Amino acid sequence: MQTVFSEDILGATPRMQRVLKLVEKIAPTDSPVLITGESGTGKELVARAIHYQSRRSDRPFVAVNAAALPENLVESELFGHARGSFTGAQHEKKGLFEEADQGTLFLDEVGEIPPGLQVKLLRVLQTGEVRRVGENHARMVDVRVIAATNKDLVQARESGEFREDLYYRLNVFQIELPPLRERREDISILALYFLTRYSRRLGKSLDGFSPEAQALLVGYDYPGNVRELENAVQRAVTLAEGRTVQASDLPPWMHLSARLLTEPAGARVAADLVPEHDMLLAELEKRHILRTLERHHDNMSRTARALGISRATLWRKLKTIRP
Ligand SMILES: Nc1ncnc2c1ncn2[C@@H]1O[C@H](COP(=O)(O)OP(=O)(O)OP(=O)(O)O)[C@@H](O)[C@H]1O
Ligand SMILES: [Mg+2]
Repeated sequence: MQTVFSEDILGATPRMQRVLKLVEKIAPTDSPVLITGESGTGKELVARAIHYQSRRSDRPFVAVNAAALPENLVESELFGHARGSFTGAQHEKKGLFEEADQGTLFLDEVGEIPPGLQVKLLRVLQTGEVRRVGENHARMVDVRVIAATNKDLVQARESGEFREDLYYRLNVFQIELPPLRERREDISILALYFLTRYSRRLGKSLDGFSPEAQALLVGYDYPGNVRELENAVQRAVTLAEGRTVQASDLPPWMHLSARLLTEPAGARVAADLVPEHDMLLAELEKRHILRTLERHHDNMSRTARALGISRATLWRKLKTIRP
């Protein structure tokens, strides 16, 4: 079978090589898979790769994001509903499980599924039967479920927000996607890949990055991971005028965070650079604070000292960052 789709998952670092190998091993099995990782690390890409490398590849791949649906609609979206089963249900409707029959259902942000529905989901996984809202009889479905989360499900499980039995049911195999800042060697490869892709798409003939642009790309922390890198490169390709992407084609916050890392009075430097961009500055400050906090394992005193502000100030700033 052709594995066109997995070729698009790039990664030369040992951690990504391990992920790719795991994808290859897991794909042909019919087991549920749980994919974890921060936003933009490639969870959906990996889910698709698993589907297209499985025997279900010529059947539907159906993706649903549990966080994007209002709570009262999740059940009828997933399982369908009978005509007139609730206000607004003028027609009967197949649920996504039925749509994905013989294929794969990708349950994105599975941690957001309301507790009441978690039981029903578990039952579908155990029995292979779905019941549309407002119907008494069940229908058989044959669906492989791949779930994803950027939330700590272990913690959600311990606090009782996520059912333990459902967790184990979904977590037969787990694929953990590392954040981009923990595999910096992949940045250049991905950047060049996106440069080629968007140059072609935009009809430009760019062939690389200037050394300064390259340094900025590799030094940045990417809170939005691969998606953020992709967007930055797409933007740069659009702006670039010569044959290479220049540092000035990259988003301003990449420059600012590079300065923040190298200059002790970072915040002041940033203010001098773009006094008009208050929003940008606030965002930058927020990221800087959160990163410093992380580096000091949430220790307030040490974080405050590292930032050169008082604990009270740090406290006040944190309250506006995460109210
Ligand atoms: N290893 C990779 N190689 C090539 N492209 C990648 C890789 N990882 C991610 N991408 C690309 O980055 C973008 C984000 O990936 P994806 O949507 O799969 O992330 P996600 O983890 O599902 O994000 P979110 O949690 O925000 O939904 C996509 O355009 C995807 O193609
Ligand atoms: Mg996603």
